[in-house]
Amino acid sequence: MEKRYLLAPGPTAIPPEVLLKMAEPIIHHRNPLFEAVVEEVRENLKYVFGTKNEVLVFASSGTGAMESAVTNALSAGDKAICVRSGKFGERWANICKAYSVEAINIDLPWGELLDPAVVESTLKANPEVKAVYMQATETSTGARFPVKEVAAIVKNYPQTLMVVDGITGVGVFELPADAWSIDVLVGGSQKALMLPPGLAFASVSDKGWEFIKNSTLPKFYFNWVKERTNLEKNQTNFTPAISLIIGLRESLRIIKQEGLENVYRRIEGLAKATRAGAEALGLKTFAKAPSPAVTAIVAPVGIDGQAIYKTLWKKYGVTGAGGQDQLKGKIFRLATLGYADKYDVITAVAALEFTLRDLGYKFEMGKGVAAATESLKDA
Ligand SMILES: Cc1ncc(COP(=O)(O)O)c(C=O)c1O
Repeated sequence: MEKRYLLAPGPTAIPPEVLLKMAEPIIHHRNPLFEAVVEEVRENLKYVFGTKNEVLVFASSGTGAMESAVTNALSAGDKAICVRSGKFGERWANICKAYSVEAINIDLPWGELLDPAVVESTLKANPEVKAVYMQATETSTGARFPVKEVAAIVKNYPQTLMVVDGITGVGVFELPADAWSIDVLVGGSQKALMLPPGLAFASVSDKGWEFIKNSTLPKFYFNWVKERTNLEKNQTNFTPAISLIIGLRESLRIIKQEGLENVYRRIEGLAKATRAGAEALGLKTFAKAPSPAVTAIVAPVGIDGQAIYKTLWKKYGVTGAGGQDQLKGKIFRLATLGYADKYDVITAVAALEFTLRDLGYKFEMGKGVAAATESLKDA
């Protein structure tokens, strides 16, 4: 028998209550029963995104909502600042390019800190910029970016929108759209919202809705105005992902019951324990400002990060993630967002110890687990 543990930065594990709800016989989306689901989901999404505005829901992966945050807000020939410090920052720039939006890239070495002053000076040098696109967590490096500080700068530029990819930030740490002046906050279902992949979200501020009036980029499926008009009637523009939205109602109830502050505290404690476990084994965290969503750990000298990730998965049943692109072989990642608790961390660190031993790394067995357990003792 082999038991499997999903500790990847998405998709993440799903609570059994959510799985059971999604297994119920399907209902029709124009039925009042489904309208009641949408009504509740709308309210609870506002709570999780920290906004009084509507949170739009799309049947797509997270990238669909990212793309829509370009096509609904901008026009061809507009300029936008993209923070590029990993695979997902590059995605913002690639989407801009696909729609003839000129990306002014702030290129940071992967895993480095983002200095908000750099965003400010780039904005000053390019006052015509229509949007700043960045990540809350750059999942490929495990780095967390200073969204609050950057948003406070962008707020002073009435002609510029602050757009945040919160796909591994929403429901992970504090990221209140309204209080921090985040004009567009994007989310995805397969992360801290504890659902399968297939839903994407975008909250849009009042300032954002003003921009949309002037946007001339083509849009059809991802039409924010039509989507909002329908949502306000507890309807969706097209056939929604009915079972996923029914699952979402359940996962949002679970989050609300725990309370967002407690969710953030739990995830922060799990990430801290993961780092403590790795450090006790002589390993280093890759990102200078690590996100609680996912810990990227540098592979020890002479050991391939991909071999660590693959051994964890194939031999010990723990699915984390490897490194992507330039980090392939150099790091491996263990996530702590969503449906995760202290025993997941202890399991992951124990499996890491077995893996490292198999791969010939020299260390004292049990030290990582002891450090992780110690770190979790008050959790
Ligand atoms: C920060 C971030 N942005 C964007 C994406 C892309 O989301 P999706 O694969 O759901 O399109 C991911 C997925 O891992 C992510 O972590």
